[in-house]
Amino acid sequence: MSNRIAVVPGSFDPPTLGHLDVIRRAASLYDQLHVLVVHNPGKEAMLPIAQRLALLEQSIAEGEIEGAEIVVASWSMGLLVDYATDVDAGVLVKGIRSQVDVAYETPMAIVNRHLAHVETVFLLPDPAHALVSSSLVRQVAALGGDVSPFVPPAVARFLDTGAREL
Ligand code: PNS
Repeated sequence: MSNRIAVVPGSFDPPTLGHLDVIRRAASLYDQLHVLVVHNPGKEAMLPIAQRLALLEQSIAEGEIEGAEIVVASWSMGLLVDYATDVDAGVLVKGIRSQVDVAYETPMAIVNRHLAHVETVFLLPDPAHALVSSSLVRQVAALGGDVSPFVPPAVARFLDTGAREL
């Protein structure tokens, strides 16, 4: 497996500025980046997977991210490391906002390393995004608030017109 190919997995429901910041940083470190929308059965979703993919693609294009070749894909067929193995990725990249994220991510990183010798690299996003989470964005959007300070423009446009029907 290649240490030049990385996967950035997440629910991306919806993508936030914090996600985009992590994608931008990872793109400067690797040759190929797979931004992977993973179906998480433990979470009730706001957006269908296809919508999350479209929003990620638009946000990445509009964000003019430089560096790695970026592939946007989804995965609901099993283990995350199975996808990583399929695309020859030796690295998973996760953003860490706080100690809470460290506690949540550490067991997954260890399990993934045991399952497939895939390393997890934690990146620290810009502190400006430290308090942004998809769950807060979902709540603000559902209650009719302005989410534009927290999400890429493509997501803000979509939620502005579509949130009340979700
Ligand atoms: O954005 P999220 O919801 O915090 O992302 C969590 C995600 C999707 C990355 C995590 O739930 C995950 O890795 N799911 C894949 C299932 C899997 O491989 N589980 C076993 C090893 S942890």
